[in-house]
Amino acid sequence: MGKTILILGACGQIGTELTLALRQLHGSDKVIASDIREGGTELMASGPFEILDATDSNALEEAVIHYEVEEIYLMAAMLSATAEKFPDRAWHLNMSTLFNVLRLGKERMINKIFWPSSIAVFGPNTPKEDTPQSTIMEPSTVYGISKQSGERWCAYYHKKYGVDVRSLRYPGLISWKTEPGGGTTDYAVEIFHKALKEGQYTCFLTEGTRLPMMYMDDAIRATINLMQAPAEALSVRSSYNLHAMSFEPGQLARAIQKHLPEFEIRYAPDERQAIADSWPSSIDDREARQDWGWAPQFNLEETTATMLEALQRAGN
Ligand code: SER
Repeated sequence: MGKTILILGACGQIGTELTLALRQLHGSDKVIASDIREGGTELMASGPFEILDATDSNALEEAVIHYEVEEIYLMAAMLSATAEKFPDRAWHLNMSTLFNVLRLGKERMINKIFWPSSIAVFGPNTPKEDTPQSTIMEPSTVYGISKQSGERWCAYYHKKYGVDVRSLRYPGLISWKTEPGGGTTDYAVEIFHKALKEGQYTCFLTEGTRLPMMYMDDAIRATINLMQAPAEALSVRSSYNLHAMSFEPGQLARAIQKHLPEFEIRYAPDERQAIADSWPSSIDDREARQDWGWAPQFNLEETTATMLEALQRAGN
């Protein structure tokens, strides 16, 4: 079979599109998709798939040997809002999967690892605007604590054991192929589905909650570019800040109203508001730009137009 890439959590919001993009790049049979359950039709039809629980270290090692895996993308995780409801399970899932994969790197069973971090590593004491790469962090959510700890472990395994693990601090991700689940930034996806189906949406964040966001195509391009960059170009081995745009729910609603003038939005903030309030509004990503040439392509208007068009085409 030759060397392959293994995606853990391939059926999630990022995993689905990452798998499809990597299959375009390397060929379908070179990219093994895996998850604890089957995913969407397009993903399942696009190449090999394996039911695999990434918390199961032995099963993971067997898959790595069987498929001659040389690169792993660990996309399985519990997101911020769900993690607040199940703190123990979130910590276990988010950390044990990372340790399982880092061990494979340390033992030289695989060559390269991608592990996603998040803007959730920052907390209420972090500067909110143009948040720098290195600053006060102090995350106040279980998810954020798991991501910040994970970043430290990645940096440690790189320094101590020479493991080539690479990471990005994703902002809220907007996409149409697979819906996110359990996140605080999920409103920015839900709103499109509701706008098309029901003409109205009740947002769980306030009108003025400004958060960093990114269209999925940009996130996938960033991930692939980071993984293709020469190791010596990378100055950050915890996780890179990454920015594309920042907006408030009110601004997103107005961008949708330009296409769907009848669309109505209401605001009923819930427990996710406190999580959003603890996160930055915008991110300084100069290290990513300098080290591996990062530049986003989608702004709010392009994202809105693309989302509405794609969801309408997909029959929503
Ligand atoms: N988008 C994620 C969430 O809202 C943050 O990484 O949980």
